[in-house]
Amino acid sequence: MPTYNELDNPKRLINELMRHLPDETFEVIFVDDSSDARSIEWLCALRETYPFVRVEHRTRERGLGSAVVRGFELSRGDVIAVMDADLQHPVGVLPEMMRALAAGYDVAIPSRFIPGGSDGGLSLPRKLVSFTARWMGRLALKRLRNVSDPTSGYFMVKRAVIDGVSLRPVGWKILIEILARGSYSRILEIPYAFEARALGESKMSLQEQWNYLRHLGRLILDSPEERRVYLFALVGTSGVLVNELLYDVLIHLQMALWTAGALSAFVAMGTNFVLNDRLTWVDARAGQAHRRFLKYVITSLFGIAQSTAVLSVLAYGERVNSLYANIAGIAVSMVWNFYINNFWTWKKKRRVVDIVISPVRTGTKLH
Ligand code: GDD
Ligand code: MN
Repeated sequence: MPTYNELDNPKRLINELMRHLPDETFEVIFVDDSSDARSIEWLCALRETYPFVRVEHRTRERGLGSAVVRGFELSRGDVIAVMDADLQHPVGVLPEMMRALAAGYDVAIPSRFIPGGSDGGLSLPRKLVSFTARWMGRLALKRLRNVSDPTSGYFMVKRAVIDGVSLRPVGWKILIEILARGSYSRILEIPYAFEARALGESKMSLQEQWNYLRHLGRLILDSPEERRVYLFALVGTSGVLVNELLYDVLIHLQMALWTAGALSAFVAMGTNFVLNDRLTWVDARAGQAHRRFLKYVITSLFGIAQSTAVLSVLAYGERVNSLYANIAGIAVSMVWNFYINNFWTWKKKRRVVDIVISPVRTGTKLH
């Protein structure tokens, strides 16, 4: 449990834990960055009273994500739960999470956003920020796509999920770090109601929202699978520039329009191929380069045929403005090019995303 100036909350939490987990063996690790002397004092008192309480005071480092990672390092159990110390995460869900892991799930995530769950504990502006963050995360990273509450600060994992994985969260959202880098195959979501804070205040800030964006960016860049589609789009844009520049030069050299157009398109196809081969699919190269190039050209030619077809159909009889029609055509062929190249041109078996997320969408009885 990460704590920062939580006053009396940890004590109440310990009472709740003992009430809900009377027969379990557990340790509670507080990784505390408090600046407030009373909060620190109360935590130390807890450690005196309860032998299962451990307190790690940090003075040099601060931050929720790194506090959780520190807790992982110190922990000794086979199962690790992360939760806030301010009672906004109801302790009653813990037994359900433990049953889920015992039933074979690797990760259990209490979710505010499946039937039966609610996020009543957030103010309206925070709900909006949270909504945007969640959707950005799910759009940006494939591994978050089917998780309804990826920005949750409440979850439980088997140790094997994070064992040997280097976790380097940028800000708060340690769960997206684990979902992006961890080794797991089954996740269970359990609905819960996020409670309002009774004591103290939230430490969420604008700085943390910025950190979240940096965090997403870093996770995309660190994964060949996640960054592929962005690199592809970038390479495509560079191809447009190459095409236009060369076209301009050739026209100035008095070349015929048709020849200049075809030549610059072909050269752009070549630079696109080289860049995609060296960047976008650098981990998926197999066999001889000229065979990949041939496949790339064939794919692109079909792509051009498609975009031209879409353009003609849409712009026929001026039903749609021809510029929009052309954009629609380009979009269709880009999707085509990406997928065919991904599964045909660069098809070397690579470590694909190995998860089957099978969220049980309601609180299904596991036993
Ligand atoms: N060690 C440490 N260092 N702990 C921190 C720090 C820090 O810099 N900042 C916050 N914490 C602790 C708080 O003491 C609390 O126990 C927990 O992290 C969550 O902080 P809050 O400030 O209460 O966050 P929140 O309620 O606005 O949002 C939380 O719940 C959401 C729903 O699960 C966070 O966990 C969000 O990430 C989460 O989406
Ligand atoms: Mn809170």
